[in-house]
Amino acid sequence: MMEKRMKAIIFGITGQDGSYLAESLLRMKYEVVGIARRVSVDTLQRISHILPQITIVEGDITDAFSVSNAIKEYEPDEIYNLAAQSHVGTSFTQPSLTWDVTAGGCLNILEGIRYSGRKDDIKFYQASSSEMFGKNYSVEQVPMYMDKDKEHSLKFQNENTPFAPQSPYAIAKLASHHLVRNYRESYGIFACNGILFNHESERRGEKFVTRKITKWIGKFVEWTNNIGLKPADVANSFVIFDENNMVVPNGHFADQITTWTFPILKLGNLDAKRDWGHAEDYVRAMWLMMQQEVPDDYVVATGETHSVRDFLDAAFYRIGIEEWDAYVGIDPKYYRPAEVDYLLGCPKKAKNLLSWKPEISFTELVHKMVEHDINEEAKLQRSRLQEI
Ligand code: NAP
Ligand code: GDD
Repeated sequence: MMEKRMKAIIFGITGQDGSYLAESLLRMKYEVVGIARRVSVDTLQRISHILPQITIVEGDITDAFSVSNAIKEYEPDEIYNLAAQSHVGTSFTQPSLTWDVTAGGCLNILEGIRYSGRKDDIKFYQASSSEMFGKNYSVEQVPMYMDKDKEHSLKFQNENTPFAPQSPYAIAKLASHHLVRNYRESYGIFACNGILFNHESERRGEKFVTRKITKWIGKFVEWTNNIGLKPADVANSFVIFDENNMVVPNGHFADQITTWTFPILKLGNLDAKRDWGHAEDYVRAMWLMMQQEVPDDYVVATGETHSVRDFLDAAFYRIGIEEWDAYVGIDPKYYRPAEVDYLLGCPKKAKNLLSWKPEISFTELVHKMVEHDINEEAKLQRSRLQEI
């Protein structure tokens, strides 16, 4: 007798995590249905290579009918909700949209499951976030690395750390987090929250700080190639700035040779610390949560924290530049009305109960992203030249 194929619906399949999760489920022979909203531009790039193997259904998570219809029609075994207005900065300027998508969307799915007639046969994963901790952390006395008799305090967040959300995004995520717990306890639905700390990749949205940095580096390297210099040579040759914040190599002024100028990288708060992992490792944790006997909530993190400055150090180092200050400027427009200063997740529960651990280190993550964006820019340049 043929074994029944598992079927999963992914809300947010066109996003970073959605694309990795879809690939991973396909490798495990799942039937994958992705809900994608109607937009005027192509948003299927991240999944273009697997499109023939998946079913794409038009739907919007804020539209309760399209959500419940998809659940009824496709009769999934598992539903992953990765759809969100996921940019924290944008949530301050579009709080209402963020609320509708990020909180209301989750409620629509939970109600869809509840009234599907199959509520006991569907498992649900909700993409919760470390942003929900906001300014809060727990403190534990741990032995000093060098001197085992002494202790220092380690600040971290785990499943028991109280939430103190700092943005409309985090508040919407926290509402969803509690809805999931409430539907689990009220209706017995298998629903779990993955409290994921920041995870990045070569597919990360370009407005998040890590990808913004590596995209800039990709373009910068391509520019140095075009003017016949190595990135490190530009750094060694008295970089001058004109009024428009351009990098100008050795003694040339922007108004003299305009093609020899390059805009500097403008960022906001460089002191914020994040626990950064690779998205491919994190989608594995999502699936593992869904394979447990009992639904529960788990922190997924690397257990290391790095500042935006550390990320800049590692990214610039990859192109041979140790002093990056001249290439990076601060623009207050990237500051947030309220900031989350420090995130460091303790993934002990996921390690013990799910046997999960991250495979890709911080340095590998940064290098993968930088190398990818350098190659992408070079490819773009080649295709532009072919068009001429
Ligand atoms: P992402 O790249 O921004 O993807 C978000 C997805 O949501 C996209 O597919 C987007 O579709 C979809 N979406 C947005 N509004 C929608 C709507 N109204 N109806 C249907 N779909 C909609 O985010 P990600 O980094 O993959 O993260 C996945 C999830 O994990 C998100 O919920 C995020 O908040 C959460 N999370 C992420 C991290 C992280 O560090 N990456 C950490 C913790 C939690 P379009 O392509 O059409 O825009
Ligand atoms: N985006 C951005 N752009 N952030 C900047 C910039 C900039 O130019 N300059 C400094 N930052 C700082 C932000 O202020 C923040 O402290 C940190 O870099 C990380 O910002 P993001 O990369 O935008 O990520 P995030 O931590 O706010 O949110 C991400 O992680 C959450 C999990 O903790 C998103 O993926 C959320 O969806 C996710 O829930």
